[in-house]
Amino acid sequence: MRASLVLTLLFLCSYNGLSSIHAGSLKDEASALLSIKKGLIDSSNYLKDWELPVTGLESEFVHCNWTGVSCNSNGEVEKLDLSNMNLTGSVSDDIGKLRNLVVLNISRNGFASSLPNSMSNLTLLTTLDINHNSFNGSFPTGLGRIVGLTYINAYSNDFTGFLPEDLGNATSLETLDLRGSYFEGTIPSCYKNLQKLKFLGLAGNFLTGRIPAMLGQLSSLETIILGYNRFVGKIPREFGNLANLQYLDLAVGNLSGRIPAELGKLKKVNTMFLYKNTFRGALPPEIGNMNSLISLDLSQNRLSGEIPSSISKLKNLKLLSLMCNRFTGQVPVRISELPQLEKLQLWNNSLTGSLPMNLGKNSPLQWLDASTNSLSGKIPTNLCSNGNLSRLNLFNNAFSGPIPIELSTCRSLQRVRLQNNFISGVLPHGLGKLRKLQRLDLANNSLSGKIPHDIGLSTSLAIIDLSRNHFQSSIPLTILSMPNLESFMASNSGLKGVIPDRIQDCPSLSLLDLSNNHFSGDIPGSIASCKKLVRLNLQNNQFTGEIPKAISTMPTLAILDLSNNSLTGSIPDNIGSSLALETLNLSYNLLEGPLPTIGVFATMKPDDLAGNPGLCGGALRRCSNSDADHASSFNKIVHTKGFIVDVWLVGISLLSLVLGILFFIGRWMYKKWSLMRKTSYYYS
Ligand SMILES: *[C@@H]1O[C@H](CO)[C@@H](O)[C@H](O)[C@H]1NC(C)=O
Ligand SMILES: *[C@@H]1O[C@H](CO)[C@@H](O)[C@H](O)[C@H]1NC(C)=O
Ligand SMILES: *[C@@H]1O[C@H](CO)[C@@H](O)[C@H](O)[C@H]1NC(C)=O
Ligand SMILES: *[C@@H]1O[C@H](CO)[C@@H](O)[C@H](O)[C@H]1NC(C)=O
Ligand SMILES: *[C@@H]1O[C@H](CO)[C@@H](O)[C@H](O)[C@H]1NC(C)=O
Ligand SMILES: *[C@@H]1O[C@H](CO)[C@@H](O)[C@H](O)[C@H]1NC(C)=O
Ligand SMILES: *[C@@H]1O[C@H](CO)[C@@H](O)[C@H](O)[C@H]1NC(C)=O
Ligand SMILES: *[C@@H]1O[C@H](CO)[C@@H](O)[C@H](O)[C@H]1NC(C)=O
Ligand SMILES: *[C@@H]1O[C@H](CO)[C@@H](O)[C@H](O)[C@H]1NC(C)=O
Ligand SMILES: *[C@@H]1O[C@H](CO)[C@@H](O)[C@H](O)[C@H]1NC(C)=O
Ligand SMILES: *[C@@H]1O[C@H](CO)[C@@H](O)[C@H](O)[C@H]1NC(C)=O
Ligand SMILES: *[C@@H]1O[C@H](CO)[C@@H](O)[C@H](O)[C@H]1NC(C)=O
Repeated sequence: MRASLVLTLLFLCSYNGLSSIHAGSLKDEASALLSIKKGLIDSSNYLKDWELPVTGLESEFVHCNWTGVSCNSNGEVEKLDLSNMNLTGSVSDDIGKLRNLVVLNISRNGFASSLPNSMSNLTLLTTLDINHNSFNGSFPTGLGRIVGLTYINAYSNDFTGFLPEDLGNATSLETLDLRGSYFEGTIPSCYKNLQKLKFLGLAGNFLTGRIPAMLGQLSSLETIILGYNRFVGKIPREFGNLANLQYLDLAVGNLSGRIPAELGKLKKVNTMFLYKNTFRGALPPEIGNMNSLISLDLSQNRLSGEIPSSISKLKNLKLLSLMCNRFTGQVPVRISELPQLEKLQLWNNSLTGSLPMNLGKNSPLQWLDASTNSLSGKIPTNLCSNGNLSRLNLFNNAFSGPIPIELSTCRSLQRVRLQNNFISGVLPHGLGKLRKLQRLDLANNSLSGKIPHDIGLSTSLAIIDLSRNHFQSSIPLTILSMPNLESFMASNSGLKGVIPDRIQDCPSLSLLDLSNNHFSGDIPGSIASCKKLVRLNLQNNQFTGEIPKAISTMPTLAILDLSNNSLTGSIPDNIGSSLALETLNLSYNLLEGPLPTIGVFATMKPDDLAGNPGLCGGALRRCSNSDADHASSFNKIVHTKGFIVDVWLVGISLLSLVLGILFFIGRWMYKKWSLMRKTSYYYS
């Protein structure tokens, strides 16, 4: 191949009269490229056309036609774009021979090697894009010599060591993106020379020390992203001088101190992320002067005092997150005048007073999370005025008054969580018709009246919690056939009536808690159609009749509490053979006859059977003839089976015991096996 190249060049020299020096340099370009190719692993064969022609009659510029290669008019490689080609292997030292290279883009490949220092010989380079690779070792030195270098993007690699200090000499740099590697140490002070720098991204490394005040002198800066590092200390007040700054992200660090009032001078900043640090003290009212702000996230700090009302001057604000701080006082009323506000996150503070009555009236409010505060008063009625509200979280407060009827026509709603308040009145009709509503959490309030039947017709609701309220109602007949209902909790909520025996298809339900109510009638056998039910709690009601045998066929039922009802008859034998059942409470009923001995019964505590004087066997009193008579006469009536004699009973008990032991060994082995499977899954 080399011979043919020489032949080509000879041929071209004689016909085209090119100088031999030029030919020589072109030869170098082509052979440098071929040498680079040799270092690469090109498993998808993107570079298959990187070959010299065998006959060599075409042109000395042949390499200029190769995939990813662009030449200048002299046939010298000016741009090499090998981005996104699934390349691995390494980048050869010979890259340094492409002396005219201006743009090198090898981003989005799989390089897991170091980058050669010879790149410092690429004196015409302006653009170096190596983002999304796994380059490791230290960042190549010497690039600072390249006076025209304007763009370095090394985002998402595995570099280690210190930040490249010599880049402080690359005074043309406009973009320096070294995010997402393992750089350590501090920000070099010589970076203060980078007066043209617009983008500084160092986030997601192991950088330490303080954020140097000199960054405040880099007056071209538009974007600073330094979060997810180990910086300590304060935000330099000099940052207030960055008149061109648009984006400031210092999130997730170990920064502390107060938020400097000087930031109020930043008129162009549209995004400020300071979340998850340890900033403390009051939020300076000057923040209200940052009138380009669209996203302001100060969550998860230790900010205290009142939310400055000047925040309502930020007319472009869409996101305001102050959650997990120590703010006190009222939510500024005029926050409801912000015309763009979409997400308001005030969760986990110590706010008091009521929410502004007009909240949501003037903006396309999507999320309101003011849970876990000490807010009181009524829930504002305008929250969904513009039809955008999807999350409403007001739980753990002291809200009172009714659920605004307006919410029942808010078709964008997905989650409504109002538990642990003092909300009263009736549940408005229509919530079940909201096609996106997935979660309705109203526990621990003072709701009364009926549960509207449309709730039972919802095709979207997955979680409903009505526990600890004062309804005087039955449950909607269709409630257990709801297609997406996973969890229905209504413990202690004043409910009565029967469990509807019309459960044909109960596709998703895994938790049903109707405990501590006034339900009566039979437990319908059709409950067994709830094939995903894991937990069924009917404790403290007035259910009568027998325990349906079909319960034993429920494949995932693990926790069953039927205690403190008026259930009669004997315990169906086969309940013990249910594979999933782990906890069973049958105490305080009117059950009678001998206990089954297999499955869960083998380990059941007497407490979970107490209060059933008619039960015998196991850890309870010994069974007598009359118990057997009881059971047999019962069996005759119900199943028209034959009689049972004592001998039979002992035989069956022994058999059951053996089966029980086998069952436990089997289950233990299955658990161990599935645990091993899980473990190997996590580690593979
Ligand atoms: C990328 O390369 C790997 C081998 O290094 C290969 O298994 C995979 O199929 C390639 N992906 C594409 C999209 O070519
Ligand atoms: C580059 O390829 C085009 C067609 O693909 C061809 O016309 C042209 O002659 C080639 N140039 C060189 C220098 O090989
Ligand atoms: C590098 O190539 C990718 C496409 O693969 C492109 O998105 C990116 O903008 C290029 N980088 C530069 C600096 O042009
Ligand atoms: C730069 O090029 C010169 C001349 O080819 C060479 O001697 C030197 O080793 C190169 N520098 C690096 C860092 O590779
Ligand atoms: C870079 O990664 C490769 C592949 O994982 C490894 O063989 C090599 O030792 C690493 N080099 C450094 C300097 O960490
Ligand atoms: C920056 O350039 C100056 C002058 O060329 C040189 O003395 C200095 O060592 C360079 N700084 C770094 C960190 O390479
Ligand atoms: C955070 O900074 C404090 C000193 O301000 C230091 O004691 C602590 O170790 C730092 N934590 C981390 C995770 O760097
Ligand atoms: C509430 O916020 C504080 C920080 O202000 C935090 O320590 C606490 O864990 C948060 N509570 C919850 C439930 O997340
Ligand atoms: C708010 O909802 C309206 C009506 O559904 C819609 O046209 C608009 O785009 C939404 N605005 C936002 C910011 O989501
Ligand atoms: C019920 O809600 C009130 C009001 O928020 C609260 O004080 C109480 O602790 C809650 N009870 C439970 C059990 O969560
Ligand atoms: C059984 O339920 C009744 C109310 O139905 C209640 O008064 C009683 O305390 C409960 N007994 C037990 C043991 O929980
Ligand atoms: C079983 O039910 C009784 C009566 O409802 C209750 O007092 C007891 O705590 C329950 N046992 C368990 C383990 O939950």
